[in-house]
Amino acid sequence: MKDIVAIYPGSFDPVTNGHLDLIHRGSKLFDKLIVAIARNLSKGETLFSMEERKEMLVAMTEKLDNVSVDIFEGLLVTYCVQKNANAVLRGIRAISDYEFELQMALMNRKMEPRVETVFMMPAEQYSYLSSRIVREIAKLSGPLNGLVPEMVEQRVRQRIAQRHISPTGKHLL
Ligand code: PNS
Repeated sequence: MKDIVAIYPGSFDPVTNGHLDLIHRGSKLFDKLIVAIARNLSKGETLFSMEERKEMLVAMTEKLDNVSVDIFEGLLVTYCVQKNANAVLRGIRAISDYEFELQMALMNRKMEPRVETVFMMPAEQYSYLSSRIVREIAKLSGPLNGLVPEMVEQRVRQRIAQRHISPTGKHLL
């Protein structure tokens, strides 16, 4: 049987424990897993730059030999072909994820039938977790323990503190 190379695409702004749970599961299932950060122009302002997100993901996955981290631009299926990948890994947390994920998987399959989408469920404790919710809790100074790794929490808090303080030292929020 041929090697299965899977792409795990996403925004990862920032990487959460839910993403890491899925990366660990994926690394056991696939021969090679590429975590691919999408340069998504429609998402507006992000908390971290692409390079910063990559740096955090690399640090969090360094012990996994068959996992690498990359940045991609343009269509996911084009990137899959470039990387000789035969699968896309996506996490499904709740029914609410399903509709969007189904649409994406079917559209990707229409464009590139050689690439299959594989869905995995993260551990239950991460089923309500998302990067958006992490950003929101952090902006409102709420607790992030258990949601993101400690190093990521520090970076998030630092970034939010920088953004909320004006050059004159006044808090903007
Ligand atoms: O973490 P996210 O924001 O849910 O990830 C969404 C992502 C990056 C997987 C999706 O937006 C994507 O695949 N973008 C690349 C552009 C593309 O191929 N769009 C067509 C999808 S049918």
